[in-house]
Amino acid sequence: MAQIVLFENIHASARAVFAAAGYTDIATFSSALPSAELHAALRDAEIVGIRSRTQMDRDALAAAHNARVIGCFCIGTNQVDLDGAMQRGIPVFNAPFSNTRSVAELVLGEAILLLRRIPEKNLRVHQGHWDKTAAGAFEARGKTLGIIGYGNIGSQISTLAEALGMRVVFHDVEAKLPLGNARAATSMAELLEQADVVTLHVPGGKSTENIIDAAALSRMKRGAILINASRGGVVDIPALHAALTSGHIAGAALDVFPTEPKSADEPLDSPLLGLPNVILTPHIGGSTQESQENIGREVAEKLVRFMEFGTTKGAVNFPELPFIEQSGCARILHVHRNQPGALATLDSLLASHGLNIVGQTLQTNGEIGYVLTDVDGDVSDAVMVALRDHPITIRCDRTA
Ligand code: NAI
Repeated sequence: MAQIVLFENIHASARAVFAAAGYTDIATFSSALPSAELHAALRDAEIVGIRSRTQMDRDALAAAHNARVIGCFCIGTNQVDLDGAMQRGIPVFNAPFSNTRSVAELVLGEAILLLRRIPEKNLRVHQGHWDKTAAGAFEARGKTLGIIGYGNIGSQISTLAEALGMRVVFHDVEAKLPLGNARAATSMAELLEQADVVTLHVPGGKSTENIIDAAALSRMKRGAILINASRGGVVDIPALHAALTSGHIAGAALDVFPTEPKSADEPLDSPLLGLPNVILTPHIGGSTQESQENIGREVAEKLVRFMEFGTTKGAVNFPELPFIEQSGCARILHVHRNQPGALATLDSLLASHGLNIVGQTLQTNGEIGYVLTDVDGDVSDAVMVALRDHPITIRCDRTA
């Protein structure tokens, strides 16, 4: 059975998935390791599980010479040399959806708190004041929620917000199926002009940098609320500061910032500090016990499905093959250089060893091809050696 090495205190839900699939040889480490120790720990690992702090760079990949698959038990994958892993025939998986619900709940909670001006009322009571007033406090029911970016998180918020009685309008650069009674705005400008609460759920990067700038903020209704739990660069912070202090924007919640502190004791540097009716949180939108448990399960299931069936659906660096029921006695997972005739070469190699192909599926990207082949009869060690030794082969395995 494959040896599994898990770093950084991955949730016990992962171990439960591995155990249920019969994988019991599991080494765990509670933190990321310095490179020499990491390399030693990786030596025999076939399945590697990491979170965001373990650097699976070129040297770590070379040290993990038995590795067949890497699981990032988190969302981001830039701690892994993805191209290097692909060149070695190693798919890398992550958990893109497991914290969706956690972010969605936080955003809706913040929308309600900001509509009621709770952040500043809470502070006033703590400071010994009792400003008992309904001025500037509103229900969420009947208000319009504008969702920019209608992907996993945006669409989840859409459904929850409708359950609260909010009207939902969204804007996405791609055509999206509106859920429930949600409506696609004709443009971001139209959304900004209509929404009482605007929430951002777009990816980061150049294309979304400062999409909420002074002009966008001025299009928003007077007294509207802005929430950003997506990426820090999406909102122009000085422009938001100006809109909040002028009273044009009534409140804001930010979970992400253009520059975020690197450690627990480093303070956030932002002009928004100390403003009333502004909620600032330390990038914890997706951080709940449930999301950690979901991540453990989601990634471990992907790793097991790869080991058992060769499924690479959802891999971030690899040609994607969906789950395919095994049709023969054995399944061969073959990764090769994406060259003309590679599949024919593989098939004639199998034929020369008397193996009859009963099912075969190929997927390629620019550089590599990945093919699952189901054959009648047993695949001997000699066949595996012949396949692995062939110059077209990057990597070749049998399913567990
Ligand atoms: P997703 O990829 O499922 O959805 C993003 C959506 O934004 C897509 O539908 C895309 O078409 C759309 N989009 C891209 N550019 C756009 C633009 N300029 N205008 C309008 N729509 C645009 O992503 P998901 O999972 O919903 O995550 C959304 C964001 O939340 C990401 O930036 C992610 O990094 C962040 N996030 C933050 C967390 C936190 O702890 N605060 C936790 C999880 C995700």
